[in-house]
Amino acid sequence: MHQGDAATDGIAVADLTEDQARAELARLAAAIARANAAYHTEDAPEISDAEYDAMKVRNAEIEQLFPHLKRADSPSDVVGGAVAEGFAKVTHEVRMLSLANAFDDDSIHDFDDQVRRFLGLGDEVVSYTAEPKIDGLSVSLRYEGGRLVQAATRGDGSVGENVTANVRTIDDIPHVLNEAPDVLEVRGEIYMSHADFAALNERQENAGGKTFANPRNAAAGSLRQLDASITRDRPLMFFAYAWGTHSEPLADTQMGAIERLRQLGFQTNRLTALCKGPAAMLARYREIELQRATLGYDIDGVVYKVNDLSLQRRLGYRSTTPRWAIAHKFPAELAWTRLEAIDIQVGRTGALSPVARLKPVTVGGVVVSNATLHNEDYIAGRDSRGQVIRGGKDIRVGDWVQVYRAGDVIPKVADVDLSKRPEAAEPYVFPSVCPECGSEAVREAGDAVRRCTGGMICPAQAVEKLKHFVSRGAFDIEGLGAKQVEMFYHDDQLPIKEPADIFTLSRRDAANLSKLKNREGWGDKSAGNLFASIEERRVIPLNRVIFALGIRHVGESASALLAGHYGSWAAFEGAMTRAEIGAGPDWEELLNIDGVGEVLAASVVTTFHQGAERASIDRLVAELDIEDAVRRGAVDSPVAGKTVVFTGTLEKMSRAEAKARAESLGAKVAGSVSAKTDLVIAGPGAGSKAKKAEELGIEMIDEDGWLALIGSP
Ligand code: IVH
Repeated sequence: MHQGDAATDGIAVADLTEDQARAELARLAAAIARANAAYHTEDAPEISDAEYDAMKVRNAEIEQLFPHLKRADSPSDVVGGAVAEGFAKVTHEVRMLSLANAFDDDSIHDFDDQVRRFLGLGDEVVSYTAEPKIDGLSVSLRYEGGRLVQAATRGDGSVGENVTANVRTIDDIPHVLNEAPDVLEVRGEIYMSHADFAALNERQENAGGKTFANPRNAAAGSLRQLDASITRDRPLMFFAYAWGTHSEPLADTQMGAIERLRQLGFQTNRLTALCKGPAAMLARYREIELQRATLGYDIDGVVYKVNDLSLQRRLGYRSTTPRWAIAHKFPAELAWTRLEAIDIQVGRTGALSPVARLKPVTVGGVVVSNATLHNEDYIAGRDSRGQVIRGGKDIRVGDWVQVYRAGDVIPKVADVDLSKRPEAAEPYVFPSVCPECGSEAVREAGDAVRRCTGGMICPAQAVEKLKHFVSRGAFDIEGLGAKQVEMFYHDDQLPIKEPADIFTLSRRDAANLSKLKNREGWGDKSAGNLFASIEERRVIPLNRVIFALGIRHVGESASALLAGHYGSWAAFEGAMTRAEIGAGPDWEELLNIDGVGEVLAASVVTTFHQGAERASIDRLVAELDIEDAVRRGAVDSPVAGKTVVFTGTLEKMSRAEAKARAESLGAKVAGSVSAKTDLVIAGPGAGSKAKKAEELGIEMIDEDGWLALIGSP
């Protein structure tokens, strides 16, 4: 650790040498941290506000002069006192899901069609609630015996952070409910109003603290404070719009449940309305859009939910979103600015992604200086099928371009103003070699993306793979983020070149003469903490391991599907090793998983058959203790673990509903009858499948028999 050299604090910033600047930043970080602790937690300030402010300003000035010396624990990045790193984890009993998005009217008609088709309702009109989509952060509030006992953030949907003390400081959130169900989790959005946001930023600025880019960031930053007394000073608000675990139903309808939440003392959004069918939903969307600018808080769309809760139950969920709701987003915000350069970034799958470096411009309250240009065709004015886009206008360095943001997504370049094109602007030539490793970059037939062929030898691919490996839905190792991974990748003494190296780090450190704890920026405690948090992740759920491998097309939900299907690493790895693309039982089994298509399947199988890649996976797995997947909520159903086949006409529900229902009870639904089939549900008109089941002596029942078996009327 750096001890502040007493000689540095009197030197003018402009006169500091690099070594002195480094020492001075260390001294200031420690002094400011001490002052924060004294002020916020011990409630006994040791220095005046003016002295405190002067230290923050000096720190910022040195960082500006020596940006490369900015510390990982820089006081400039810390709001108020506490750094949010130590919230306890809370596992949500009922997962907190997200919503599917729609951006146009047609998608809302499609949504309604899908709902009616799934439920087999024909032309019957379905009622939906329409309400604003609040741009804040969602929380789950647990009440037991009418008392608020726990509040948690959404986190990754399954596990969030315990923010009970912080939430108790929010006026909109009641501590006690009268005549509430014995157990009730109320869910909704914490947000900050425009007026409070502006006032907070002004206060922060005056105090030399960090200002926030938009009200949502301000709300999140204010809630996630280890010291709840800081949250108390931040004006947060709350709307209730959903619920998790509940010991008795709130109502029969969504509208009724919202009304009940209101009676219990929660704020609910007054713009919530009941709409019969898509035309009424779209009319409501326009009304809410018209009011958007005068609401006084940010909303980014309208959420529609099937009103009848028994229909919601039947519709159920896809892997991460409900079938009974959709978010209709408002159009993206736009701005024009200059394109200063085009850089190529190489991703973990080798994709060469062009990034527009822009003259910074504010788009919907956020300063944007980078935007994606997708791929070479997009720059040239064509889409992935070769069709002309933007009237065929290409994008060149120096161009005046239109940038847009929709929700959380990365900003994009939408259009070019040819009248402002500099005369010297040249068409952009997309590189055919990887700018990071010099390997050839090729485009395979049908792929819009050019990829580096360097594989593991390409440092950019390796580093991006590692960053993905330690990211939130993957190994999520505390103290080992993107920055640290990048540093270790280039480290001569203690390199991390592939995931397995993370788990040999402490062994290698122990055998090494130059210890991590003796390095600059590290100490006994920080090195020890890092090794401990790595150890903690040696035991890890199967779905996280699959996701962490960074296989193309295999995101979090596909990883969960694969883990849920194969159950254990041994089963998964065995099947992928045996599988051959295009044929055989292991390939068929993989394709039979609902949600797994040919492209995804081929990508996984290919990964397990690539020598170097496979060896790296094996080295990783040897270091881990991988937990088997647990099937959610399917433990004691009579069909859990059984393979069932539906055939013939179903009369009481659509095929999609039958399949979703069976899967939610833990059954596997197969498309064809084989010796592995446990049960066939045959409706009228069942043909060859019923015959085959008979030949194989497989149990066969009709639709009523099935409904009786699963305990449904
Ligand atoms: S309903 C199972 N209603 O949007 C669905 N969500 O994209 C539960 N949100 O994580 C969510 N306003 O943070 C719902 N009126 C509203 C909402 C809303 C904002 C947020 C919420 C959720 C995200 C989904």
